[in-house]
Amino acid sequence: MAFPPQFLDEIRARIHLSTVAGRRVRLQRRGREHTGLCPFHNEKTPSFTINEDKGFFHCFGCGAHGDVISFEMRALGLSFVDAVERLAGEAGLEVPQSSPEERTRARREAGLHDVLEEAAAFFEKHLRLPVGRDALDYLRRRGLDDGIVARFRLGFAPAGNALKAALIRDDIGEDLLVEAGLVGRPEDGRTSYDIFRDRVMFPITDRRGRIIAFGGRVLGDAQPKYLNSPDTPLFQKGRVLYGLAQARSPAFEKGTIVVTEGYMDVIAMNRAGFSNAVAPLGTALTEGQIAELWRLAPEPILCFDGDSAGRRAARRAAERALPLLRPGLSLRFAMLPEGRDPDDLLRAEGAEAMAAVLEGAIPLSEAAWLILMEGRHIDTPERRAALERDIDQLTERIEESTVRQHYRRALRQRAWDTFAPRGKRSKAAPVAQTGTITGAPPPPRVGDTAHQTFAAFLLSQPSILSRHFDEAAAALAEAEALGGLIEDAVAVLAGKPESGPDELLDSLERSGHGPTLGLLRDRLSALRRKPPEDPDAEFRRMNALLHDMALTRDMESLMARMADDPDPESWQRYQALQAERTALREALD
Ligand code: UTP
Ligand code: MN
Repeated sequence: MAFPPQFLDEIRARIHLSTVAGRRVRLQRRGREHTGLCPFHNEKTPSFTINEDKGFFHCFGCGAHGDVISFEMRALGLSFVDAVERLAGEAGLEVPQSSPEERTRARREAGLHDVLEEAAAFFEKHLRLPVGRDALDYLRRRGLDDGIVARFRLGFAPAGNALKAALIRDDIGEDLLVEAGLVGRPEDGRTSYDIFRDRVMFPITDRRGRIIAFGGRVLGDAQPKYLNSPDTPLFQKGRVLYGLAQARSPAFEKGTIVVTEGYMDVIAMNRAGFSNAVAPLGTALTEGQIAELWRLAPEPILCFDGDSAGRRAARRAAERALPLLRPGLSLRFAMLPEGRDPDDLLRAEGAEAMAAVLEGAIPLSEAAWLILMEGRHIDTPERRAALERDIDQLTERIEESTVRQHYRRALRQRAWDTFAPRGKRSKAAPVAQTGTITGAPPPPRVGDTAHQTFAAFLLSQPSILSRHFDEAAAALAEAEALGGLIEDAVAVLAGKPESGPDELLDSLERSGHGPTLGLLRDRLSALRRKPPEDPDAEFRRMNALLHDMALTRDMESLMARMADDPDPESWQRYQALQAERTALREALD
């Protein structure tokens, strides 16, 4: 469809290119120009520039060039129409309708919107009347205050046919109420009735915040617990995400969006400050919903219950997403403690617990691995071959070829790593490269390169070693000989705190550490020639690096164990380790 040029100009005027590009690239401002690392090719020095006056970007490195619309197209892999619609949504602009049919439809939809808007106001009003007293108490008991009730426009539908009675007028006929999904009309000719009776009402909006449907919850335990509007010209359940209108701008700001299971989860998340939350309407995520999420964030986080039903749901979502993956667009999976939805978790353990769950979200590729390994044994050649076959089958479903290749490579590598006997894996000798499963030698008693570098550094900086002796000893404990060396060094320093590096090395040599020191000789003399500029920072960096390696090793052995027996506790433990590692890496940046 052709958009009028004024409309496109309006988008370009309202949305700053630097804002949009600034979500992907760290930009530096120089007058009216912004520069940064080009998002469209790999580079170390910035050659990407934005001229805000002209509304153009240009990369001197790869020649990429265009306006805000082409930036979105390239950055997110969108079609022109999708990019325009996305930006129009962000700018709060209505996308113009062109053909006469479209105009007729738009008029009819406007009528439906008006009726639904009136219904929402009716429900809101009744929540505040005596008839809505129990409903209001119910919401209060669930921890909702007036602010949040107003923000989500929660209401109450009284029993009987109160809505129909109140809304039918000259200009609103029964047909319109039926078409809007508010009134049901039995085919056998009996009188029509309000669909929502004696329920707490949750208005459902489109992405711009116009009401298109409702969900209604019973106050007690009656069934069905929730009732949704039937599909109407405005509302197709599988295309809508509850809370999207409210979540849009927070999602843009945070660069991510969180998908929960239900109405109350979205609301509880909002209350706790996670305003970038949405939910499908009681069904598994559809392709349309995934596409909608990707308009807002490249890697939406899906929350699942940690029980077996939750794992099944995660599996379904992963399988549905595979064919849709594009470079840069994926999903992440967060597992909640067993039997808890976000609403429960927030009430029981607070926002930090929820933040930790989100922090521990694993990438889709990781989830794909867990799915592949679920209930599988890989202890014989035939079983390993079956795993490889299933990796190929799973990745075959990824339509986009670059992503498909990367998945295939990563999963095969992972499989090879797992085939190697446990505890005998080593980063230095990746088995996949030689194609043989010889089993790397066990970790040397003197640790690997990183341990040795750290030990040499500590010996060349006795004052740092004295100050941080327990951290240092802990970091090197697993590399036995080095651990012993450092412990003795600490003992020497305890006796003679003023020892310099030479004195320290001499006395260690004398107490029988000669062979281990020999291993460190090159590193020690390099450090003597060129001591680090900021030894304290260097200590923190190396210590964190070893900690990172230890966490990674624990994660890998946990993963191998989960391959045989994927239980929820291990998954949770895995997520905790991953969260710790993420925090560690962030602290280091
Ligand atoms: P849940 O049963 O997990 O309920 O349904 P919930 O969201 O935790 O609700 P509360 O906390 O008991 O109020 C998750 C979602 O599935 C849909 C709704 O969208 C609900 O939010 N659902 C559930 C239905 O559509 N109908 C039902 O009868 C139940
Ligand atoms: Mn709940």
